[in-house]
Amino acid sequence: MHAKASSILLIVGGGIAAYKSLELIRLLRGAGMEVRVVLTKAGAQFVTPLSLASLSGNKVYEDLFSLTDETEMGHIELSRQADAIVIAPATADLLAKAANGLANDLASTLLLASDKAALAAPAMNWRMWTHPATRRNVDVLRGYGMAFVGPNEGPMACGESGPGRMAEPEEIFAALRARLADRPKTLAGRKVVITAGPTHEPIDPVRYIANRSSGKQGYALAEVARDAGAEVVLVSGPVNLPPPAGVRLISVETARQMAEAVESTLPCDIFIAAAAVADWRTEADAAQKIKKGFDGPPALKMVENPDILASIARHGANRPRLVIGFAAETENVVAHARAKLAKKGCDLIVANDVGEGTGVMGGSENAVVLITPDGEQAWPRLAKDEVARRLVAHFAQMYAAEEERGGA
Ligand code: CTP
Repeated sequence: MHAKASSILLIVGGGIAAYKSLELIRLLRGAGMEVRVVLTKAGAQFVTPLSLASLSGNKVYEDLFSLTDETEMGHIELSRQADAIVIAPATADLLAKAANGLANDLASTLLLASDKAALAAPAMNWRMWTHPATRRNVDVLRGYGMAFVGPNEGPMACGESGPGRMAEPEEIFAALRARLADRPKTLAGRKVVITAGPTHEPIDPVRYIANRSSGKQGYALAEVARDAGAEVVLVSGPVNLPPPAGVRLISVETARQMAEAVESTLPCDIFIAAAAVADWRTEADAAQKIKKGFDGPPALKMVENPDILASIARHGANRPRLVIGFAAETENVVAHARAKLAKKGCDLIVANDVGEGTGVMGGSENAVVLITPDGEQAWPRLAKDEVARRLVAHFAQMYAAEEERGGA
């Protein structure tokens, strides 16, 4: 029996980069994939339905209200029968519509009606790409499971230069293949609990102690673990990220609340401590705002917070089979992380250098070293999403090996 060829729904938006989608169709067809194209009104200003139809070997869909389209294949069916949706070029307008759930043309309706996460190849002027509105839309869409390839930096059709050029057809093709191959449900039936973000430790009703953690790495891990079939509980400190769909989110503020929330989720199979938990809190959380006085600044007496990772790793009967910690270090990364592995009693420490100038804290890239009692592995600098994908694949393998070893 032949494996069924993948069926791709390609949405072509309006941008000068639309011509590159013709080459993308050629690559997809060359790999034996079935391609159906949806062309937006703006897209039709740049490429003709005829060239798209000739290359894809299928009729091109343009109109939400076309009766022939509805009788041949309704728009719900069009997205349902596709294995993957690719948006190339993904314009600022298409992303804004998708992020806000608009459905006023065929492309946006398909995206809203689909249960599949799309792969988007953005193309726009760099000012549009870096505008806070687009940044927010991209964050929201990532939360919904949309993946992005590009944009790349370089000269643009408008004469300016910057991030906004659509990724090359080969890059989009490679990203799509990785996504299609990425499907194995390596964590099906597993319960994964993840902590993320900073904690806020109150000083008084208006002030608190915090840190620079954005929560991005923990949230990305939650999404990838969900996509790998796990039941995911995300225990998150205060962050500025949209809640990931299909994940149980428990929002907390302080380390003590986080510890309690994690306890309440046990038993679980894998525990991942990605949060930057404050090590200390003030001994007395003042009931009223501390006022400036004549006796100078207040002396804050600090006491230690519970160590969530260490307590879960030493939980006795309820210890998850796999307990993973993170180590944010500013110097002697590997040595410090190795000491932490022993101190906390976890199975693996993912160490990263957050020293000044690395841009890791709050940034979108990360270079990690994996440390286990048996050795270490240094990974190259990668996007946090990619780090998350590779980490989850690694954890799934470790879990399977542990299970095989029969550690009940
Ligand atoms: N962690 C935790 N609870 C705490 C402190 C840390 O669960 N109260 C977890 C973090 O989520 C991370 C790991 O422990 O997975 C390492 O945290 P880090 O703060 O770097 O380690 P510390 O124990 O604070 O060690 P040090 O202060 O020496 O860096």
